[in-house]
Amino acid sequence: MHLPDFKVARSSDKKDYVTKTYRLNEKYLNKYKGETCYLRTYGCQMNEHDSENIKGILTLLGFTFTDKMDDANLIILNTCSIRENAHNKAFGLLGRVKHLKENKPNIKVGLCGCMAQEEIVVKTIMEKYPFVNFVIGTHNFYELPEILEKEELSNNQQIEVYSREQDLVERLPVVRASKYKAYVNIIYGCDKFCTYCIVPYTRGRQRSRKKEDIIKEVEDLVKEGYSEVTLLGQNVNAYGKDLYSDYSLAELLIDVAKTDIPRIRFMTSHPWDFNDKMIEVIAKYPNIMPSIHLPVQSGSNRILKLMGRRYTKETYLTLFHKMKEQIPNCTISTDIIVGFPGETDEDFKETLDLVKECKYDNAFTFIYSPRVGTPAAKLKDNVSKEVKEARLQELNCLVNKYFKENNDKLVGKKLKVLVEGISTKKNEYFGYSETNKLINFTGDNIKIGDIVEVLITDSKTWSLDGYVK
Ligand code: SAH
Ligand code: SF4
Ligand code: F3S
Repeated sequence: MHLPDFKVARSSDKKDYVTKTYRLNEKYLNKYKGETCYLRTYGCQMNEHDSENIKGILTLLGFTFTDKMDDANLIILNTCSIRENAHNKAFGLLGRVKHLKENKPNIKVGLCGCMAQEEIVVKTIMEKYPFVNFVIGTHNFYELPEILEKEELSNNQQIEVYSREQDLVERLPVVRASKYKAYVNIIYGCDKFCTYCIVPYTRGRQRSRKKEDIIKEVEDLVKEGYSEVTLLGQNVNAYGKDLYSDYSLAELLIDVAKTDIPRIRFMTSHPWDFNDKMIEVIAKYPNIMPSIHLPVQSGSNRILKLMGRRYTKETYLTLFHKMKEQIPNCTISTDIIVGFPGETDEDFKETLDLVKECKYDNAFTFIYSPRVGTPAAKLKDNVSKEVKEARLQELNCLVNKYFKENNDKLVGKKLKVLVEGISTKKNEYFGYSETNKLINFTGDNIKIGDIVEVLITDSKTWSLDGYVK
């Protein structure tokens, strides 16, 4: 048994990791043929991609997958810790699983993802959720075959969570959700320790994948016919810092652009690590999409400092405007937290003012949620629930106004769209523009996976309508 410990996670120094190649012990191949898994994923793209790897491993074990929890022999929750409601969703589902298991006691239940790395979650599972068969952490989720076996042999709840990050593992099996768009990890973990955020504790220190491994993965995706890759990391702009002295995200983007993959996206960018060369490269290569997610979190320097974000409103705005000027048609989206402890009306007004200046194309807005073990959770939370909710509503009204205004400007323009599927409305396709706008459109002889030119005829707050001639 290995239990998570935030103190160990915080003090970890990650220096001694190496890169290994994944190998499945042959004795596990098809061991579970005929069995079915229900895999539920919460949280960010990182978790979605981990789930693609989990599916890859379970497929080799012989599992097939179902959308109906009631049909499954194995239920896995790949969880997220970022806010209280992510916790509540996972525990809510565990409540349903408990009922199901009362009638079908042989079902196996496992929990992985960020919640598995949290001391208080694991303690709760051990004390109150004895029907959960295993908990496996983010650093070793690929040991799933071994943990399933251990559980079967011992018939005891298994907890295998490492607080220190483990070696990087390459060539994990993968079953991707899309045939056209793929996630490619470039950097794991985060060293920023923003005071409100749990990610550095659940995902460990920053560790970059070797450039050769990333480029090879993208080259293989090109051969398989993929049209788009999203380079993933909690802070992609820190890529390479822990590995190279002269190779950063800018150089990686150039090398990935040269693979001729039609579209490259990357997320998330921390403003602190964004440099001029990265902007130049994004502007120069047509297959690097002009769409940047640049979380600001707050427009008040006082709050940014309390959050430990390492930039000021002024330096953020300088970067923002540089991007807008140098990258043609660039869209920028953001994340904003309201109701951080001590946020005054004046602080919040500064956030609104910043939004008025940036007129974002998209924004994800959140009410601050204290996370046990993070420094901000110890601050006195003196903003009432009503005030937080009112601020969120006011902010949402404002950001929505700019989404619509920005979209209105696109009516009459032609946008290149990667066709992703057919929407619920009959005969309408959907896909995203280079600038990451959702487009619903009609047309003849359209194939999913193609990149087509759509004439925009109408705009809504979160999408655009159009047709292919
Ligand atoms: N690595 C990314 C963000 C990952 S988390 C970055 O630094 O930009 C995604 C978003 O969740 C954050 O940008 C932040 O806006 C929000 N978030 C993180 N912790 C939160 C908390 N404790 N309460 C509310 N929102 C939070
Ligand atoms: Fe969390 Fe900050 Fe790291 Fe983003 S940069 S994952 S908000 S600690
Ligand atoms: Fe959630 Fe973990 Fe992602 S906390 S947002 S799943 S890194």
